[in-house]
Amino acid sequence: MIVFTKKSELKAKISSFKEKNMTIGFVPTMGALHKGHLALVNEALANNNQAIVSIFVNPTQFDNPEDLKKYPRTLDKDVELLKSLSENIIVYAPTVEDIYEEQTKSQKFDFDGLEHQMEGKFRDGHFDGVGTIVKRLFEIVTPNNAYFGEKDFQQLAIIKKMVSKNKMPVNIVGCKIYREANGLALSSRNTRLTSDYKEAAPFIYKTLKTAKTKFGTKSANKVTEWVENQFAKHNLLELEYFTIADEATLKTVKRKSKNKKYRAFVAVYAGEIRLIDNIALN
Ligand code: PAF
Repeated sequence: MIVFTKKSELKAKISSFKEKNMTIGFVPTMGALHKGHLALVNEALANNNQAIVSIFVNPTQFDNPEDLKKYPRTLDKDVELLKSLSENIIVYAPTVEDIYEEQTKSQKFDFDGLEHQMEGKFRDGHFDGVGTIVKRLFEIVTPNNAYFGEKDFQQLAIIKKMVSKNKMPVNIVGCKIYREANGLALSSRNTRLTSDYKEAAPFIYKTLKTAKTKFGTKSANKVTEWVENQFAKHNLLELEYFTIADEATLKTVKRKSKNKKYRAFVAVYAGEIRLIDNIALN
């Protein structure tokens, strides 16, 4: 298994793959890998000649410096986990300087309004940071296919938008949310939950599942009210937002329409750890 820290070296290796017409499957991550990431890497391995995984905690997508400081960094363990899938995977684990050179700054993007919904309302500049790093990584790795989890559904929608608006030659593959047996969506942040919060957190998915059932017969407003009440009664978890949105625009739904696909999205604080989740409603 090769771990590159310099884009120049990685690019030279990639050129040799391209000369042999090999396809590249790419999984961008911020490390602290869990089974959800490994499922993405397995998809990349199964459907491409070469899998490449980047491990980089991207400073420009954090609106909270404390969150950036505390984000788990476990490179050696991540490399071991990847080795357990295949010795053939290539890892790109750059420094901030290798990626950003002189200026660690986001580019400004227009994602046709997707960026102003949900996470965009609470995490200033987050999606400009995500767009900046994913675009740079795509330019370096030049993947045929790139894999992203549906847990960050808004991120996935934004990346698809960036690719289609800029005609980037990469196919974006969205992969199902990977959950613990108790329903908690896997996230690198889960490792920071203390035992009380870990025990409480499955309430999030349980509530989403009930919201889905209720959405069959009730309006989006009524379901939202019900969810807000459930969290108001919870003594550990604090709801930041719950919204039922149109999957295409990510705008909060006012009135249900038959031909549209809806999804419920939630962000919750478990102490100082912010967790997000979502569920398809129809
Ligand atoms: O989902 C993530 O881990 C990050 O947002 C990503 C896509 C690797 C960009 O830093």
